Amino acid sequence: MGDIFERLVKNYGPLGQHRERAHGYFAFPKLDGEISNRMNFRGKEMIVWSLNNYLGLANHPDVRKADADASAQYGLATPMGARMMSGNSDYHEQLEAELAAFEEKEDAILMNYGYQGIMSTIDAICGRHDVIVYDAEAHACIIDGLRLHPGHRYVFKHNDVEDCEKQLERATALIEKQNTGGILVITEGVFGMAGDQGKLKEIVELKAKFDFRLLVDDAHGFGTLGERGAGAGEAQGCQDGIDLYFSTFAKSMASIGAFMAGPKVIIDYIRYNIRSQIFAKSLPMPFVIGNLKRLELLRTKPELKNTLWKNALKLQQGLKERGFDIGKTDSVVTPVYMKGGVEEATAMVMDLRENYRIFCSIVVYPVIPKGHIIYRLIPTAVHTDKDIEETLKAFSETKEKLVAGNYKVSMIPDMAEKKA
Ligand SMILES: Cc1ncc(COP(=O)(O)O)c(C=O)c1O
Repeated sequence: MGDIFERLVKNYGPLGQHRERAHGYFAFPKLDGEISNRMNFRGKEMIVWSLNNYLGLANHPDVRKADADASAQYGLATPMGARMMSGNSDYHEQLEAELAAFEEKEDAILMNYGYQGIMSTIDAICGRHDVIVYDAEAHACIIDGLRLHPGHRYVFKHNDVEDCEKQLERATALIEKQNTGGILVITEGVFGMAGDQGKLKEIVELKAKFDFRLLVDDAHGFGTLGERGAGAGEAQGCQDGIDLYFSTFAKSMASIGAFMAGPKVIIDYIRYNIRSQIFAKSLPMPFVIGNLKRLELLRTKPELKNTLWKNALKLQQGLKERGFDIGKTDSVVTPVYMKGGVEEATAMVMDLRENYRIFCSIVVYPVIPKGHIIYRLIPTAVHTDKDIEETLKAFSETKEKLVAGNYKVSMIPDMAEKKA
């Protein structure tokens, strides 16, 4: 008989295998100081491009005050228990009502985390005769939700509406053959890696030909897209066609928690059947009150979104002018595509951090194909022109070094945190 633990320590997985050299630097780095455009990393101040603090709310004085006052008044315990049993409050219901109104839906339900919220929603609303049609680049939480789904699922090529239609034809044929069940299409408002918006309008238009319900994960669109910041549905003029609208509070709201908005009867159904909320403690009061304050600022301070976009467009324009490939982004998420191995990518990141004081995240194999590197830059409303200019200069110089082969190393540099 094998021992599970023995097997695990023989293979730590594609990223875990580098942990002895990477931990605390390339993976699990520790950023210190106030969350902002510049933070400290290993004792040095860096321009940070890794945080989804899009609107700069993380350290907004009104937000900090609301968080502090609610913590002082309620602590982290209140309310105790799951919402259904003993953990409900007027504040929870107020936040749900405000989110629903903002998203122009009848009702909304709060979730403790987006990841488990989406998984559990899929589990709650889809039965074994239902078919799920989803985008190939859907976030891990959607993929894990599919793992809970006992019925069929069909994937369509990323943002390919023609293929989505093909999968809808297959799904419809299956439902007709079964003579029972329905179809749920799942996609995203903004794909967080490449920054391209989901083709929501075109997918909604498919409702003229097919019967289905549409669930959109708009984690990166909420607060950043649309006239009022209501997200990708608002930006594309098709919010009405989105049956279930989801966002986390972990990005624009710089907090914890998430919500799903939709028709009252369906949100009520989810409320009484979503296992991850029914069998878990409700969001503590400081999170709920803190999120009410964030939502108020998101709604009433359009200048935050405007500054975010000014910065994003300046960064994206500057990169393009310098010959960088930033792909198909039509959101503020700014990927920079380069070619090189994992080792080269880490050596380049080290140069960026140690010599240029730029902190950004890299994505390498096995998340993307071998030989490719993606730098993922997240502009925010608190970045400055100086941050952008310094970053563009650093990127131009390090790219030259990459092309010249200066970063060719045989192993990932050993930058692991050494504990005494
Ligand atoms: C697209 C998307 N959906 C869902 C989640 C999960 O949300 P949470 O962090 O609230 O669990 C994330 C990441 O935060 C995300 O990027």
